[in-house]
Amino acid sequence: MQTKIKYLALATLFFSTSSLILAADLTKAYDMPDATKMIEKDLIAGATEYTMPKSCDLTDAKAIARGDFMFNNLNGKKAKGKPPEGLVKFIEETGKDGKVKKKPKQYGNCIACHNIEGSKGAGNIGPSLVNYKGIFLDTKVRTAQFVYQKIADPRVDNPNTHMTVNLTTGLFNEQEICDYTAYVISEKKKK
Ligand code: HEC
Repeated sequence: MQTKIKYLALATLFFSTSSLILAADLTKAYDMPDATKMIEKDLIAGATEYTMPKSCDLTDAKAIARGDFMFNNLNGKKAKGKPPEGLVKFIEETGKDGKVKKKPKQYGNCIACHNIEGSKGAGNIGPSLVNYKGIFLDTKVRTAQFVYQKIADPRVDNPNTHMTVNLTTGLFNEQEICDYTAYVISEKKKK
């Protein structure tokens, strides 16, 4: 009984001192950087509505191939294999010193969050897009316009989305959003 009381007293002492330490005001111990400027720089325009352009050819095999490549890769430096027609691995950019530099092209890496046919190690932050055509398009639950808008700016139908904003940020252009849309809604073979 006595030892029990001893342990209880020790535990009380431990918890009361640790809460003192935890409650200490650490903001005085190090410099707090002012992040306002950084945040302002990173702010993007609000949720923006888009209409899928008429030029979007959703059945074009080349568009589907480009969508597939960008969906499953992070950037041109990391991507394996030759990019499909109409897609590059590196883009040229003129630096402040006037010199032209090669920069890896950024892709969507949608696979980090979405499962899809043939994926290896897909993420599950977003819903699975396996058999998207059969489940969502053929049943008229979704339209190609919905998918285009979702990829361009997912905040329009879901302000609290965790998905990346792809057109409003300028990360991709209209043609590339078309390519992703074409790929997502295409009929796929189980690889
Ligand atoms: C950081 C994680 C993340 C990334 C990266 C991401 N998504 Fe999403 N996506 C989500 C989440 C979460 C949802 C569900 C919430 C919503 O609809 O906004 C979603 C929803 C969707 C939907 C709608 C499904 C439906 O019918 O309800 C489509 C289509 C889609 N994503 C396609 C893509 C494509 C294409 C890319 C790559 C350009 C991509 N996503 C990248 C997280 C992500």
